[in-house]
Amino acid sequence: MKIALGCDHGGINLKEEIKKFLEENNYDYEDFGTYNNESVDYPDYGKKVALEVRDNDFDRGILVCGTGIGISLAANKVKGIRAAVVSDVFSAKMCRAHNNCQILSLGERVVGKGLALELVNAFLTTDFEGDRHKRRVDKLIEIEENNL
Ligand code: RB5
Repeated sequence: MKIALGCDHGGINLKEEIKKFLEENNYDYEDFGTYNNESVDYPDYGKKVALEVRDNDFDRGILVCGTGIGISLAANKVKGIRAAVVSDVFSAKMCRAHNNCQILSLGERVVGKGLALELVNAFLTTDFEGDRHKRRVDKLIEIEENNL
């Protein structure tokens, strides 16, 4: 599985922890920045990772900013992308199982490292259940087609 990573300055420390976790668990990833603590704008990184996931063969994306909110909003503006801000393990599973989200978004100022890695693990190891959930996700896509 190939994973695209991105963050703003508010998410850089957690992104580094996630990279270590991915390496330890033999996931293939690419880091699309930001790469230091200098203040940047989260939309740039949410957009970058969303485009990489949509267009360039990445199976999943993981985004981090201070809250996870701003960077997820940016990713969700890219047609075809479903990004979920999550801070509990049940939701991390359900955003895959029921919503087929391709991108997980985390808040470094919201969740600690231990929980964050549990969230990443749940997100990466849960498959979409399809069936009635596909009908609902298809309706999301239809809303997008007609209104974006
Ligand atoms: C940056 O200070 C902060 O606003 C950003 O990381 C994020 O929390 C926005 O949603």
